[in-house]
Amino acid sequence: MKNLKKILGQIGLMGITILLFGSCNSTEKEKIIDPAKIQVRGTMDAELTSPPFVPAPIGDRSAKKLIVKLEILEIEGEISNGVKYNYWTFGGSVPGSFIRTRVGDEVEFTLSNHPDNKLPHNIDLHAVTGPGGGAESSFVAPGHQKTFSFKTLNPGLYVYHCATAPVGMHIANGMYGLILVEPEGGLPKVDKEYYIMQGDFYTKGENGDPGLQPFDMKKAVEEDADYVVFNGKVGALTGENAITANVGETVRLYIGNGGPNLTSSFHVIGEIFDNVHIEGGSLINKNVQTTLIPAGGAVIVDFKVEVPGTFILVDHAIFRAFNKGALGMLKVSGEENKQLYSGVKQEGIYLPEGGTIQTMPNNTAAKPEVKLNKTLAEKMESGKQIYMKTCFACHQATGEGIANAFPPLAKSDYLNADVKRAIGIVLNGKTGEITVNGKNYNSIMTRQTLTDDEIADVLTYVYNSWDNNKTNVTPAMVTEVKNSK
Ligand code: CU
Repeated sequence: MKNLKKILGQIGLMGITILLFGSCNSTEKEKIIDPAKIQVRGTMDAELTSPPFVPAPIGDRSAKKLIVKLEILEIEGEISNGVKYNYWTFGGSVPGSFIRTRVGDEVEFTLSNHPDNKLPHNIDLHAVTGPGGGAESSFVAPGHQKTFSFKTLNPGLYVYHCATAPVGMHIANGMYGLILVEPEGGLPKVDKEYYIMQGDFYTKGENGDPGLQPFDMKKAVEEDADYVVFNGKVGALTGENAITANVGETVRLYIGNGGPNLTSSFHVIGEIFDNVHIEGGSLINKNVQTTLIPAGGAVIVDFKVEVPGTFILVDHAIFRAFNKGALGMLKVSGEENKQLYSGVKQEGIYLPEGGTIQTMPNNTAAKPEVKLNKTLAEKMESGKQIYMKTCFACHQATGEGIANAFPPLAKSDYLNADVKRAIGIVLNGKTGEITVNGKNYNSIMTRQTLTDDEIADVLTYVYNSWDNNKTNVTPAMVTEVKNSK
């Protein structure tokens, strides 16, 4: 029995030996070298950068004693147009300064708390092997600083954050950032690298309420975010702030999620991630559309940009993108490649029934008898039912329309100016640009298959609702417009 165990043990050992030396890719090499035993050679000051930028890659440099000096600043900033917020920051930005190290570095970390700050803070770096990730050793009052050191043992992309009570509040106010630990020899070279972090914010007022908005603890506990943003504010990565690349380049994004609450479904519209370091670790997944980033987690994605255009970065929990701010832009310039992406080749109106058919043939016979000389109340009742079946999806229940897509019917100058035009549109449909209440719309309204009586009722309902001019549309008026063509 003892011998059998010994033999099995030897076979096991042989197996491991074959594994280690039989194939020799980089991850297995890492296992052979114990990172704790990597000797440092020399000292250097760490380069720290504000988002969306990252420090220079480590390349083939040896492990070093790396001096990191990070200053905590409590500052007022703008979270959205006209909305102020008191951010608590590592290095003056949200997310905080990007720290780039390699495995085996001995990081000498000094955390200073600016004398103008009001609160004590500390730092928990997920890249640290040690109690609290450094939190216990770095707790520091305003006007003081603390130094501690740690050795980076595991390559990967890690979140750091403040861990001073109430922890959730310190994180919610922007106290998070990323620290990258590159493997020996560095990550594969790419052309462009950027730093992005998602965060959710909770304000006393609703999204968009102007002025200085204080943190709202109740909403934070209920995870009812007013803002979900990249890099601390709405628009930090859009328009002039967009990140950029040229056609043919490889782009790597270091993306973290500070939370405090929400998980990110990170996606770039119109791109596919060639490589994803899942959860910021060493396992690489390929050809990914959307990757999850947990609160307090990170991911490294890279992809090649093949065609020019604006690529939208979103949290694909999509109301966060279009209603709460989790939207960024990558602008790619260069030559078009029509073979990879053609753009619009042809555009036309789609009319499955053909352009000349006016109504369903003999359809009126099947309909309930038309009551003549209805009262206004009867027309309103009938008109409302038609409206809710036919018009509601685009123009909405209270006639407000949908911004940039479907014009409002409520208090509509376009509608009130010309009843014959309105009847004509319901009869024949409308394509192309119109201006309603000072705003331009360019959409398609299809021709409705309604009887003259129904058109009269639904338009009477619209004209007698939502502050419109109370026109009473009769079937005769509809017939007149129809025959005037
Ligand atoms: Cu703090």
